[in-house]
Amino acid sequence: MSIRAAQTPDLGPLARLWWQGWRDAHLPLVPKALANRRTLDSFIVRMALALPHVRAVGPVGAPLGFHLIKENELNQLYVEEESRGAGIAALLMADAEDRLLEAGVKTPWLACAIGNTRAARFYQKAGWVLTRTETIPTEIPGGWYPLKIWRYEKRLSARPWTWLEIEQLGPRLSPAEPGGQAEDRRAHLFRAPRTIM
Ligand SMILES: CC(C)(COP(=O)(O)OP(=O)(O)OC[C@H]1O[C@@H](n2cnc3c(N)ncnc32)[C@H](O)[C@@H]1OP(=O)(O)O)[C@@H](O)C(=O)NCCC(=O)NCCS
Repeated sequence: MSIRAAQTPDLGPLARLWWQGWRDAHLPLVPKALANRRTLDSFIVRMALALPHVRAVGPVGAPLGFHLIKENELNQLYVEEESRGAGIAALLMADAEDRLLEAGVKTPWLACAIGNTRAARFYQKAGWVLTRTETIPTEIPGGWYPLKIWRYEKRLSARPWTWLEIEQLGPRLSPAEPGGQAEDRRAHLFRAPRTIM
């Protein structure tokens, strides 16, 4: 399982994954005025614009997760519901940090909806620190919506993630017995075009 550039056949599935994940995590947390604007169509439009900068995991046309970086911000990180808790988010995070470092970003930031405790726990495990609560403009069709968020930052180290660190975040992806499924996945990662360890 490698992290790869998103491709055209991913567009629809990624937009749906994003829409569904957004609803899972945010629907009970954000103002109704914002939720009403987060239609599936709005995610298709946003994903179409973002696609050249999106990195995905899983088969082309059937992605399991993705991340999107915008300048010094880890703008989105999503894993589809059935694949959560399996370590895929850790692989995406390692790849995202690697990309940020490659772009010269030493202290990236991300916005987490206030109360999105699962995501917050994941960021904390990955070494991100809650720096403050702030109001930021979030993208909506035709404009921006001011949303209060938890701002996380991380001072990145030029040292790439070790397998131990990835395993600690996603134990089910750790290499197991020789020839086992986990070993296959790890071998695939080694072949991946990006360094994520
Ligand atoms: C955020 C996300 C990418 C993290 O990936 P994941 O596979 O769920 O991450 P992990 O399972 O490795 O870590 C989640 C942690 O939160 C914990 N957790 C699960 N549900 C929780 C809850 N309701 N409240 C608090 N913690 C929770 C898990 O137990 C785990 O912690 P642990 O390893 O200490 O047990 C994924 O959950 C997701 O896509 N969520 C929906 C979209 C989203 O919120 N994206 C982030 C936008 S800011």
